[in-house]
Amino acid sequence: MAYNGLLFDLDGVIVDTAKYHYIAWKEIAEELGITFTEKDNERLKGVSRIRSFEIILEIGKCSMPETEQKLYCEKKNDLYLSYITKMKENEILPGVREFLEDVREKGYKVGLGSASKNSRIILDRLNLREFFDIIVDGTNIIKAKPDPEVFLKGAKELELSAKECIVFEDSLAGIKAAHACGMMAVGIGIRKLLAEADLVIPGFEGITIEDIEDSL
Ligand code: BG6
Ligand code: MG
Repeated sequence: MAYNGLLFDLDGVIVDTAKYHYIAWKEIAEELGITFTEKDNERLKGVSRIRSFEIILEIGKCSMPETEQKLYCEKKNDLYLSYITKMKENEILPGVREFLEDVREKGYKVGLGSASKNSRIILDRLNLREFFDIIVDGTNIIKAKPDPEVFLKGAKELELSAKECIVFEDSLAGIKAAHACGMMAVGIGIRKLLAEADLVIPGFEGITIEDIEDSL
């Protein structure tokens, strides 16, 4: 199969922002008297901001009107922004920049497919924006992963068919989203958690696109 497009998730694939999401959500949870652990934080990976807060409320067995939920989400995002706007380029996950440089040189079309509404801020901060032909993120999708909307839109904007695209994802919801539209899914992380992926790699260090295509 000839692959022409690569669609990257952002959080957990390009940069480890989970720790910043965690400390920001933990502050909100504490304010509400909810115990929120790092293990609980795993459940928020790949999940939208509002759904993340709903999960935290479920953990704390709390309920709250929607308008108030939105206010807490805004507060969390202000905290999160205060961390990510201080991120350094050395927080890009190992091998990512080199991999992006290599695939661009080889002529692949490259897109971002993320649930985050902060993706442009993060890419700019890390000086990675130039590598992406298109960005589809939480600001222009309606349905969250595992719905395939984000990747379908990505392929469309790259003017490619789904079959020509490979998705890189660290969350199970993202792998499911890729499969739901017939794309190959490469899991970034450990096989146990990403068993449904077509291939799982620990990260991009020392990996080439040829290694990946040969294994699919
Ligand atoms: C995903 C993260 O990429 O984006 C989730 O994995 C996060 O943890 C979601 O909740 C939404 O991000 P943001 O930046 O719009 O709050
Ligand atoms: Mg992710």
